Amino acid sequence: MNPNYFHMPVMKDEVIEYLITDPSGTYIDCTIGGAGHSLAILESLSLHGRLIGVDTDQQAIEFAEQRLQQFENQVRLFHANFSELTDVMREVNISQVIGILFDLGVSSHQIDNGQRGFSYLTDGPLDMRMNRNQKLTARDIVNDYSVDELSAIFKEYGEERQSRAIARAIVGARRKSPVETTVELSDIIRRTVPHKFQIKTLSRIFQAIRIRTNDELMSLTHVLEQAIPLLKEGGRLVVISYHSLEDKIVKNFLRRQNNPCTCPPSFPECVCHKKPTVKILTKHVVKPSEREISSNKRSRSARLRAAEKINGTT
Ligand SMILES: C[S@@+](CC[C@H](N)C(=O)[O-])C[C@H]1O[C@@H](n2cnc3c(N)ncnc32)[C@H](O)[C@@H]1O
Repeated sequence: MNPNYFHMPVMKDEVIEYLITDPSGTYIDCTIGGAGHSLAILESLSLHGRLIGVDTDQQAIEFAEQRLQQFENQVRLFHANFSELTDVMREVNISQVIGILFDLGVSSHQIDNGQRGFSYLTDGPLDMRMNRNQKLTARDIVNDYSVDELSAIFKEYGEERQSRAIARAIVGARRKSPVETTVELSDIIRRTVPHKFQIKTLSRIFQAIRIRTNDELMSLTHVLEQAIPLLKEGGRLVVISYHSLEDKIVKNFLRRQNNPCTCPPSFPECVCHKKPTVKILTKHVVKPSEREISSNKRSRSARLRAAEKINGTT
């Protein structure tokens, strides 16, 4: 398969620029996907450099195994959720690395494959699991959750204004027969909102169900906490997110790590003595260039943030 069909890596040069500080160091790619970033990382390392790759999708791991074959002595791949990163590190018996990358969300391979059920553009079963060993599917959510639960998911994870009307329409439709496919779900949504809002609403609702199916925001929150202790002094954390909910979690996490003092502003001096753990390298969020966006439309919502672990902190 053409690697760029599987997934075209976003902001590849920027990732390398922020992530690589030691060509002989060990790096983790927590979202290996089509291994485009991993390949670029390995190409910028010396023979002593190492890469640990993680993905929750077995197909991504299998694809990466083939794509990175020429570097097999330098790479270890793990089929795992990145929220289990500390366990993965224990398994490889490494306590700290010099760089950790997250390129969040789904790969083109996942979106474009109708059988995975991620997209309203292709017909397929309502699945949306990144890890196909997981029990919960999008179908369970769409068919079993109450109006209140669905509405809360659409509002919280899709920032959708019509969340309650759409939740009601779904619950009404499934009384006749269960909603089984992406097209059946899309048709319900299309019938509920005016034509001019349909595409945006479809994206938001599918995004919301995907986030809930994979518990994406919780995994991200958990792994960020683990990432800093797993970095060596001077090591870098690079995160690319694709929607404002993810980016907000990353931004707020880095700000707290950079300024963890919890003393009230009225205190003349700090008494909590909490010290910064990172220096933020991207004062402003980094976005893809116009050129990249025109050659890869899926990069347009990408936002990159990077930070460096500060001396002497854990
Ligand atoms: C945008 S793609 C990564 C593309 C990759 N950087 C490349 O260059 O091809 C995101 C990948 O992260 C994986 N992923 C998402 N959430 C994950 C999680 N919690 N744990 C592990 N992998 C995850 C997805 O399965 C998908 O393969």
